[in-house]
Amino acid sequence: MTRKIAVTSALPYANGPIHIGHLVEYLQTDIWVRYQKLCGNQCLYFCADDTHGTAIMIGARDQGITPEQLIAKAHNEHFNDLSAFHIEFDNYYSTHSPENRQFSEQVFNALNEKGSITKRTIKQAYCDNCKMFLPDRYIRGECPRCHALDQYGDNCEVCGGTHSPTELINPKCSQCSEPPVKKESEHYFFKLGDYEQPLKELMARGHTHQSVANKLDEWFEAGLKDWDISRDGPYFGFNIPGEDDKYFYVWLDAPIGYMASCKNYCEKNNLDFNTVWNGDEWELYHFIGKDIVYFHALFWPAMLMGSGFKVADNLFVHGFLTVDGTKMSKSRGTFIKAATYIKHLDPEYLRYYYAGKLTAAVEDIDLSIEDFINKTNSDLVGKLANLASRSGPMLTKKLDSKLSSLDETGRSLIDKLIAVKEQIINDYEKLNYASVVRTVAALADEANRYVEQSQPWVTIKTDAETTRTTMTAVINSFKILTIYLKPILPAFAAKAERFLNTGELAFADIENVLENHTINKFERLFERIEKDKVDAMIDESRESQSTTPEPTEESKAPACEPIAPEITFDDFLKVDLRIAKVIEASAVEGADKLLALKLDLGDIQKNVFAGIAKAYEPEQLVGKMVVCVANLKPRKMKFGVSEGMILAAGPGGPEIFMLTVDEGPKPGQRVS
Ligand code: 2FM
Ligand code: ZN
Repeated sequence: MTRKIAVTSALPYANGPIHIGHLVEYLQTDIWVRYQKLCGNQCLYFCADDTHGTAIMIGARDQGITPEQLIAKAHNEHFNDLSAFHIEFDNYYSTHSPENRQFSEQVFNALNEKGSITKRTIKQAYCDNCKMFLPDRYIRGECPRCHALDQYGDNCEVCGGTHSPTELINPKCSQCSEPPVKKESEHYFFKLGDYEQPLKELMARGHTHQSVANKLDEWFEAGLKDWDISRDGPYFGFNIPGEDDKYFYVWLDAPIGYMASCKNYCEKNNLDFNTVWNGDEWELYHFIGKDIVYFHALFWPAMLMGSGFKVADNLFVHGFLTVDGTKMSKSRGTFIKAATYIKHLDPEYLRYYYAGKLTAAVEDIDLSIEDFINKTNSDLVGKLANLASRSGPMLTKKLDSKLSSLDETGRSLIDKLIAVKEQIINDYEKLNYASVVRTVAALADEANRYVEQSQPWVTIKTDAETTRTTMTAVINSFKILTIYLKPILPAFAAKAERFLNTGELAFADIENVLENHTINKFERLFERIEKDKVDAMIDESRESQSTTPEPTEESKAPACEPIAPEITFDDFLKVDLRIAKVIEASAVEGADKLLALKLDLGDIQKNVFAGIAKAYEPEQLVGKMVVCVANLKPRKMKFGVSEGMILAAGPGGPEIFMLTVDEGPKPGQRVS
């Protein structure tokens, strides 16, 4: 039976470019949608740019353009970047659209009528100079815990603590550096707690992966709080009905943008929106990353329930991307934009590589650059394309491009390849692309072994018809493997279809053996990746990222810290730097960025809390000689007293590099 399926990916925020981290999700979704279509199902893929919020407003102002101009430019760039990776949307729309305004008002009004919206006056940071309320990310100041300077209003990148902007010492507006004042304003809140029971029931019905449901249990236990869904002007967004200068918070209208994109598509394609989005005939799935689970597993279904819309059948959640085991890094050149990648490498290398790593588990996937090069060259070039390049030219040059029929050995090879069809389909359905890639690579090995054993380059000299029979099996193997990988490698499949002279292939064609068939001229399918191309891409990423973009309201990425005010040489001399030996190191419960270190400074020992837990395992550190600021006034922290500091550098997270000293100097020795 043909299924009808609507699918969405999270909407990329319009104030930054698409990068290889984003691509994990769009590729995961695109592969699934293509797989559904190849099964003969009707599947529609909706996405859009997420266009509202303070970050867009300030970003546009900084560039001297209007927010509308900014989002139009971003829309083009995002769409082009994603299309370059063969991500094929049925509609790529915008949250700044009439459909989205109408749905946002409709959802809000319905929730309001139901009593799920409440109003409260709250006090917030306000910049009198910029004449705007300041979101947490737009306030910077000294961390109330570790006293690091220039930290965001919501968390400290140095000690990892979270705080409210009101706790920051010396808070300043990030735009004009004026200290903010407190100002009252009335806000609208969505009473999420009213939906606790139906949300729990939804999760019990298997709405999302068990590991996500477990996380949700923690949130249920902590209690669901009212959600602030309004923002005061100036703000780029939709006006709240009945208000002059209050707007829907960007996260309210963002997921509604899924519906708007669907509606816009339906109108253009003569479909009924209510049937597609809201009826039982159509299935509905969202793909998202693990960082936005709260919005998609709590707020979003609760909003839909409260406003009479259907909740999705499933929420598929993926992990983050790491490159060579750590967070994408601008300084290392691994924060690679889609547009930069495409200048240097074939997008299908990345599609294949990510597919080889993706499963339904909510786990981070690692792009190891060396493994990426090796896997592409060994699998795509050495195994898959090799089957075609070993058979195509010989058939064309020596055998009039004509196949004959399978003999017994050929038939048993083809049967083996056909036998995994159901398993492959099941793997795609369950998002287990890694298994598809493993299975196909093993079968490609088998087909290549068949070529080795049949030795067509020898038989062609004396026995054209035996060679043709061999080639018939090779070409049919290649055809089957092409179909299996078509959701992952659509451009490769299109070239293969031209070569095979079959027209568009689908899963239904797996069992149809090509016999007595004429193929077309072979065209090259994949080039080997040369390491210098990868190096050039990384070099370009390193160069093009010298400045840090504005933070988004939602961004968790640390900004580069500005240079602190000058100090005199005498000031510097006050710092007593000593060699210290780490004699104990342990994790700190409740502070995932901190390690507790015991340092030996010769005559004395010091306890130090260091924000290096994302970069080092405690056991790596014991015995290391480090440099310690020995005369730092002890600071009381939440977890105990820190009596010094060790020297380390880097932007944060896993990218912190501790200054270590080779054997030689003794603990306690002064560093000059
Ligand atoms: O996290 C983000 O980048 C958001 N722009 C995702 C929004 S998804 C949906 F809610 F619109
Ligand atoms: Zn200001």
